[in-house]
Amino acid sequence: MLDIKKELSDLLDEKVSVETYNLIKEIKEKDKGDYTFPCFALAKELHKAPNQIADELKDSIKSELIEKIESINGYLNFYINKEYLTKVVFEEYENTKNEYGKGNEKGTVCVEYSSPNIAKPFHIGHMRTTLIGHALYNVYKYLGYKTIGINHLGDYGTQFGKLIEGYKLWGEEYDLSTDPIDKLVEIYVRINQECENEEVLERCRNNFKLLEEGDEYCVSLWKKFSELSMSEFNQTYEKLGIKFDEIKGEASYVSDKDNILNILEKNNKLVESQGAKIVDLENDGINTPCIIEKSDGSSIYATRDLAAIRYRSKTYDYDKSIYVTGYEQDLHFKQVFAVAKYLDLDPKYVNGLEHVSYGMYRLKEGKMSTRKGNFIKLEDILNDAIEKAKAKVSDKNPDLEDIDDVAKKVGIGAVVFGDLYNSRIKDEIFDIDEMLEFQGETCPYIQYMYVRIKSILRKLDKEVLINDIKYDKLHDDLSYDLVKQIYNFNNTLKEVVDKNEPYILSRYLIKLAQTYSDYYNTYKILSDDMDERNSRVYLISIVANILKTGCNLLGIEMPEKM
Ligand code: ARG
Repeated sequence: MLDIKKELSDLLDEKVSVETYNLIKEIKEKDKGDYTFPCFALAKELHKAPNQIADELKDSIKSELIEKIESINGYLNFYINKEYLTKVVFEEYENTKNEYGKGNEKGTVCVEYSSPNIAKPFHIGHMRTTLIGHALYNVYKYLGYKTIGINHLGDYGTQFGKLIEGYKLWGEEYDLSTDPIDKLVEIYVRINQECENEEVLERCRNNFKLLEEGDEYCVSLWKKFSELSMSEFNQTYEKLGIKFDEIKGEASYVSDKDNILNILEKNNKLVESQGAKIVDLENDGINTPCIIEKSDGSSIYATRDLAAIRYRSKTYDYDKSIYVTGYEQDLHFKQVFAVAKYLDLDPKYVNGLEHVSYGMYRLKEGKMSTRKGNFIKLEDILNDAIEKAKAKVSDKNPDLEDIDDVAKKVGIGAVVFGDLYNSRIKDEIFDIDEMLEFQGETCPYIQYMYVRIKSILRKLDKEVLINDIKYDKLHDDLSYDLVKQIYNFNNTLKEVVDKNEPYILSRYLIKLAQTYSDYYNTYKILSDDMDERNSRVYLISIVANILKTGCNLLGIEMPEKM
């Protein structure tokens, strides 16, 4: 794949002795050239003023890639040869089609996301980890990384002792074949009210103990809760097109606690504090110590995360291992990653750990249709979005076939895209009506542009071949703008994984859709001049393809009509 920065850097490297690749930047403003190289870093070594260096370099560099070079105030501005770039991009596209922009990066990445808690609702907070994580997973994979998507289920804790007790008492009153989680939550709330009675509480504690010891009855109930919860989660995952490579509960890590204690002990890191075993992290710049074993001998959330790190490093030999959770877990992951340094792991496994945190979603009051208790389930959000999308789409196009399928793609797409449109760390207001707008920076806007291209392409009686293209028909600024964006698809994906920020792709897609819209409004795509027509059609078919691939990577499906 063409790498313009690399080409320019190679040309410069023949002339200068500094590392040039990372100094070259793309120029975002219009009419100032495409790439710039600042000569300031060379001034000292060459004992010359930067503008003089730029002047001299300007005259000495020649390449078919470059149309002209300008030297301005110590910067070397490169204007890329439009036709050359267009040709290369089109040929690359011709050779890859649906796989355009794919990478062949090396390395293994664990992406942990979603990770809901069993017998607890899959609520709006879990929505963000699910959507952000899924998008990152897809992009890593597309770039060629060996990618492992992990769902670290919360299936462990003393609350299961209570739930078992509640189920024993009232299980028969509930039909768990529909909405099992709602009912398990009800049972849980009910037993909690009884727990003021010390006797009941004692029974709950004992259930948990039995569960830990592998008591058949307790384990079978716990398994049942887990399976019921999973079946409900799976409905949501299916709607969103999400699959995991590994689904593993926290409970499976409990047995590794003693190994962790031994290693930390051996490394002189374990301290006793009020009967608990902890690691002091003062020297790591963290004021709160990390508990490894509570005074009653049980593990905590962090202990199980440490065990999971050990497991993943052994099982996957990862280069990077990311955790997508809310920023309220910042301290937790700081502690866990700090303690991981003392577990005798290869440093690469510790250095590869990264917490990808995100801000909170707030609901626009009164906008959500279904409120049960004080939580809102992701499933309800999606259904609400689909229903609203259906109303909008059928309003616009009453004769549409497969309206339910389109509504699903538009509704879910709107929620997914809305979630992925801003830097993940920002707190957000969840406003489905805004997300469903057909105008503005929304998913329906992109889908609509895609559908419009598709409808033009359907009008053609034969496919345009790359040999039909006359490149001089694409010399206008808007065509070139589209070509440059197409060229940058792969770079955009690389930036997404560099920063673990899906919004970089979302914004790229909006810009591409907007530029296409300008193009469409400015030029007649199906021109009477066949050379013009073929060239334009080929260009917009690439745009359609990238809109689709890009949206798919974010976790969005595209309708063909809407
Ligand atoms: N189950 C947790 C929750 O719902 C999230 C787990 C995040 N992952 C982890 N490795 N700790 O809050």
